Amino acid sequence: MGQKGREIAKLDHKWLLNELNKAYAFEWVVHYYASLAANILSGHRTAVYSEIFKKAAQGEFEHANRIARRISELGGEPPQTLSDMEKLAGFGKVTFPKKRSDTAGFVKVFLEMERHAIALYNDLANKTHGKDLVTHELAEDLLAEEVAEEEEYENLLRE
Ligand SMILES: [Fe+2]
Repeated sequence: MGQKGREIAKLDHKWLLNELNKAYAFEWVVHYYASLAANILSGHRTAVYSEIFKKAAQGEFEHANRIARRISELGGEPPQTLSDMEKLAGFGKVTFPKKRSDTAGFVKVFLEMERHAIALYNDLANKTHGKDLVTHELAEDLLAEEVAEEEEYENLLRE
């Protein structure tokens, strides 16, 4: 980050980088599990749900990259190992339904993840409000997308 960029940031730098690293790690975790879900689903609705999770995986990957860009602007670096990422993400163990055709069971796992992301970006948006407008806008943007995704998953469960 350049001189003026540093001047206008009114937040504890270390805290902010840690929050962004957590978000980055979490996006990667969701990306990983959505890709895995797309690949292990079976049953008569495989094609439809596999597409849904593939698209979700792509979306979370893009979120991770947007966060990485902000981390870099702030002079930080994302976690260096995958094992750090899972710890940092702080989501806990992810368990998919044993029955690979249980599409609703898969959707429920991702619904929980969306809700975790919503809480995360809501908090980040609140804490950066009026203090770091660039990170604030990013958090708001990601929050809006996660809120829309939560609704999509809720609608799938109503089908
Ligand atoms: Fe995301």
